[in-house]
This record gives sequence, C-alpha cells and structure tokens, in this order.
Amino acid sequence: MGIRPLKKDLGEYERIVLCGPVWMGKFVPPLQSFMKRYGHQINHLVFVTCCGSTFKNKDDKFLGELAN
Ligand SMILES: Cc1cc2nc3c(=O)[nH]c(=O)nc-3n(C[C@H](O)[C@H](O)[C@H](O)COP(=O)(O)O)c2cc1C
Repeated sequence: MGIRPLKKDLGEYERIVLCGPVWMGKFVPPLQSFMKRYGHQINHLVFVTCCGSTFKNKDDKFLGELAN
C-alpha cells in the first residue's frame, strides 16, 4: 500500500511510537508498508493499539504474531 515519503531520518529519534489497529494478528497494510520501508531506521519501536484482544491473550494467534 502506498505511503507518503518521510522527510526525516527516523534514526535521529530515540524512539518511534506507531499507533494503529491490529488486523488478523498483523499491522494494518499502511503500517506494514511503513515498517518495510522505514523499519530499519527505527532505534526503538513502541506500538500502541486498540484491538479486539486483551493483554491476557496477547500471545494468542491473532495478537501473538505482533509480540514476536
Ligand atoms: C478485518 C479485521 C481484522 C481484525 N483482526 C484482529 C485481530 O487479529 N486481533 C485483534 O485483537 N483484533 C482484531 N480486530 C479488531 C481491530 O483491531 C479493531 O477493530 C480496531 O482496533 C479498531 O477498533 P474499532 O473496530 O472499535 O474501530 C480486527 C478488526 C477487523 C475489522
């Protein structure tokens, strides 16, 4: 999925916070594209989501893939 190019180098930041929903245990397509293109620049990633699962079930199939 197309995303707009960034003007900043993410490596200049201590930590990057991504926020978005979880679909089928994965980042939504725009976040997947973002991570494919810019993930290598990220020093420390914090992912914030609201999703259908719970913290107790974070290791289940449809949330566990993100935790790994
Ligand atoms: C197609 C689709 C797949 C989803 N897959 C998951 C999933 O694998 N795990 C999960 O915890 N929540 C899942 N959800 C719930 C979404 O994360 C949730 O809908 C999202 O956080 C947005 O919240 P909202 O539906 O209240 O707007 C899914 C939702 C949709 C529409």
